[in-house]
Amino acid sequence: MKVGGVVAFCGAGLSAESGIPTFRGSEGLWGKYDPQKYASAKGIIDLFCEDTFDLANFIADFYKVLLSAEPNFSHHSLAKLESLGFLKGVITQNIDNFDYQVGLQNVSEVHGNAYVFFCPKCGFRLKKNKNEIDELVSGIKKCKKKIELMTFILRFMGRCESCRDRLFTGVVLYGQSLREKDMDLAYSYLDNAKTVICIGTSGVTYPAASFPYYAKKKGLKLIVVNPESTEIDEIADFVINKKAVNFFQELMPLISSD
Ligand code: OAD
Repeated sequence: MKVGGVVAFCGAGLSAESGIPTFRGSEGLWGKYDPQKYASAKGIIDLFCEDTFDLANFIADFYKVLLSAEPNFSHHSLAKLESLGFLKGVITQNIDNFDYQVGLQNVSEVHGNAYVFFCPKCGFRLKKNKNEIDELVSGIKKCKKKIELMTFILRFMGRCESCRDRLFTGVVLYGQSLREKDMDLAYSYLDNAKTVICIGTSGVTYPAASFPYYAKKKGLKLIVVNPESTEIDEIADFVINKKAVNFFQELMPLISSD
C-alpha cells in the first residue's frame, strides 16, 4: 500500500499516555460527570446559577488533569512527521492544546481548545496560559460564598475585546455546532490528502466521526491505530491494534529525514 499526503484524525487515545483518561474509558470524565449536564451550554449555565460549587468542582477536576499532563511521544512524532513534510494536517477532537505545545503548525481543533475562551457572538478567541488556568483552579477553591464564586468565575472568563459580550469556554459543547472555520480547515486537509490515519478515537461522536467516511468516499486510504476495535474499522484499509505510543515507537525509526 502506498501512503501519501497523510492527515491524522485524532481522539482522546492519543493523549491517554499523557495521563488524560479517554472520555469513554473506565476512568473517563463522562463516567463521573454526565456530559449532558456538565458539557452542554444549558447545563453549564443552569449549574452556574443553581449549583455553582458543583460546577466549580467539575472545572477544578477537569483542569487539574490537563494542567498536570504533558504531550507524549505520539504528539512529538506527529510534529516531527509534519516538519519532515510527511504529515499535511492534524484534525483533532482533543482540547488539551498538546498539538500546539509540540509545535504542530497545521491543526484543526474541531472540538475547540480548553485554554481558549470564545465569544459566541463574534468569534473572538482569547487563549489563556497554564499559569492563568492554574489561578482559576486555585481561585475557585478559595471562594467560600456562592456570590464570591460566581463573580470570580465571570471575572476570569472576561469579556470580548471587540463586542464586550461575555466570553464562554472555547470547548465545543454538546448540542453546539462545530465551528465553521475549523470544519473548513479539516475538509481542506482531507481534500488534499491521500491517506488518513485515525489515531485513538472511538469514532462515535458526530459530526467529527464522519471525517473517515468523507475521506473514504473521496478515495483516500484509511488507517486505524487503536488498541481496541472501533466503528471505523469496517471501512479501514488497515487496522493496527496498538497503542499510539507503541505504533510511533515502531514507525519513527523507519522515517528518514533525507
Ligand atoms: P473516546 O473516549 O470515545 O475514545 C477513545 C479511544 O481511544 C478508544 O477507541 C480507545 O480504545 C482508544 N485508546 C485508548 N488508549 C489508547 C492509546 N494508548 N492509544 C491509542 N488509542 C487508545 O474518545 P474520542 O473518540 O476522542 O467531545 O471521543 C470523541 C469526543 O467524544 C471527544 O472529543 C469528546 C467526547 O464527548 C467533546 O468534548 C465535544
